[in-house]
Amino acid sequence: MYILSPSLLSADFTDMGRQIRILEENGAEYLHIDVMDGIFVPNISIGVPVVKSIRKFTELVLDVHLMITQPQRYIEAFAAAGADIINIHYEACDEIDSTLEKIKTLGKKNALTIKPKTNWKDIIPYLNKVDMVLVMSVEPGFGGQSFIEETLENVRGLYSYKKENGLNYDIEIDGGINAENLKKPLEAGANVIVAGSAILGKRDIGQQVRYFKSVMEEYDKK
Ligand code: DX5
Ligand code: ZN
Repeated sequence: MYILSPSLLSADFTDMGRQIRILEENGAEYLHIDVMDGIFVPNISIGVPVVKSIRKFTELVLDVHLMITQPQRYIEAFAAAGADIINIHYEACDEIDSTLEKIKTLGKKNALTIKPKTNWKDIIPYLNKVDMVLVMSVEPGFGGQSFIEETLENVRGLYSYKKENGLNYDIEIDGGINAENLKKPLEAGANVIVAGSAILGKRDIGQQVRYFKSVMEEYDKK
């Protein structure tokens, strides 16, 4: 199952509702929401009140990417605000097991995220406890950066491990994905694609969603 998760970070925030409708109407399944604290990453973005407003407005699956230090402090808040998937960073959390568990207890999907320089093998102990792994293909913090090719090794490793061990976590990739390089993560085994500037940063958002979906559908048939 291949899923598109457009990243809101590239939206025009004065026109967010209309843009979300376009994503829905053209077949996006998830909405990727980047939360930053200015500590774990050198940028600040949006938080709980925005997720709450979006929840009232759309049925899209809210894929919340917490780029915040010690994310265990905010799991309840984002769950209550209406997140469906809560992604925490391996590098940011001292209580990974209990935080992943807490997300599940609250009835949400959990995901563990790794930065480009983290090796996928470091998270092997958690792979039987996650619904999704998020592989960052740029340094987290900003949209519009270039795709780091080497991070495909993390995708390949996670994909082989999942097949060899009969696990079924999704593999999401985030950062620098565009219409030109989209096939690379799909070939490597990713099945959830985040794209910010290549979708919400474009003039015709609907057309971009349809293009991404059409490429992903080819993989669905394989
Ligand atoms: C970066 C964020 C991404 C970002 C991706 O820290 O996690 O989700 O919005 O944007 P693009 O697709 O423009 O690289
Ligand atoms: Zn993200």
